[in-house]
Amino acid sequence: MNSSFKKTNLTVLASLFFATSVANAQMIKKDFEVADQQYKIMLETQHDLTSFPRSTDENGKVKGVGVFDWTGGFFPGVMWYIYEYTKNPAWLASATKWTTALEKGKDLNQHHDIGFVMYCSYGNAVRLEKDPKKREEYNNILIHSAKTALTRFDPKVGLIKSWNTKASWDGKTTWQYPVIIDNMMNLEMLCYVSKITGDPIYKNVAISHALKTMENHFRKDFSTYHVVDYDPKTGKVLHQQTNQGYSDDSTWSRGQGWAIYAYTMMYRETGDKRFLATAKKAADFYLKHPNLPKDKIPYWDFNVGQKGYQADWKTEGRINLKAIPRDASAGALVASGLLELSNYVGKKQKQFYFKNAETMLKSLSSEKYLAKVGTNAGFILKESVGSFPHNFEVGTPLVYADYYFLEALLRYQKAVN
Ligand code: GLY
Repeated sequence: MNSSFKKTNLTVLASLFFATSVANAQMIKKDFEVADQQYKIMLETQHDLTSFPRSTDENGKVKGVGVFDWTGGFFPGVMWYIYEYTKNPAWLASATKWTTALEKGKDLNQHHDIGFVMYCSYGNAVRLEKDPKKREEYNNILIHSAKTALTRFDPKVGLIKSWNTKASWDGKTTWQYPVIIDNMMNLEMLCYVSKITGDPIYKNVAISHALKTMENHFRKDFSTYHVVDYDPKTGKVLHQQTNQGYSDDSTWSRGQGWAIYAYTMMYRETGDKRFLATAKKAADFYLKHPNLPKDKIPYWDFNVGQKGYQADWKTEGRINLKAIPRDASAGALVASGLLELSNYVGKKQKQFYFKNAETMLKSLSSEKYLAKVGTNAGFILKESVGSFPHNFEVGTPLVYADYYFLEALLRYQKAVN
């Protein structure tokens, strides 16, 4: 090869690399511009600090929830991420106001979701706030929240109980000590509180929960059950079922996403290779599944539409295979989880996870999912699914889709810069 040929090739490669970097930066910038404008629009109509935007109602208007709903922390969380990107003090003020409004959430003990509520809000607040006095206040609230979370941990079972006793989705069983895969996401706050207090109890509970979930929530192929119900006296498994998936033996997409994200996080917090192996296998199940569409944004369940999974409960006929909704919230949180996971693996796997996350972000940035400014009631992403079997929030925006989308974009920005 002569030297001028080599030089030309290198120049082509360099300009390709440059063009890709510019395109990436433009995508991130455009998405944050949409986020900035959309949430400004939303804030213009949202003045009730006891009502946290979660989705839209049947009229397409913002639907808010109280501090004890599992999604309360995402609204301030979104504002913290917009502030992190824009550095605009107006976002700091709004994020602070809505985070402070959530303080009562520190006593949320009716269900397991206190980690989602308090860590997505106060966790980001403490990370981004510069004033040491405010940081100390936020940390105290997080410590209080972690203490509350431990009230749902029974050492006999070794897990934090997700819901109080409740009928299973098909009404056939009464769950005694149900634990859902989503619960893994509450553990990050516990790990954080052990770090700031020096008390290992919180992290030990997180590890116990993650280990036992690893034993009982995963099938051989590393797909997940949504709900595992335990005998509270013995800690033995009673049932392995679903609540939001198609059926007990199917894989609910967002649940699989929670597993990928949370086992990656538990590996970061503990260095335990078993958690890394679990995150990788759960991610591989997801990414290699034949039912994952080309744009990598999953249907709301991995099995729905396949042979044996085509019955429609409502019409008792066949479901409309062409109209199976996607779940952008799953796509967003998996993109974020994979970007972190890609940091903990060898070169080949890194490429695999990173490229898939990149495709997800590009898809979510396309007009199929990204809202036009002034539409979608101010939310950023369209096309999520809350719970299909409950006919609840199907094809709507969801505040947690927005939250994980922005988190993923910030992680992506760090990786490509
Ligand atoms: N954590 C509840 C859900 O993902 O729908």
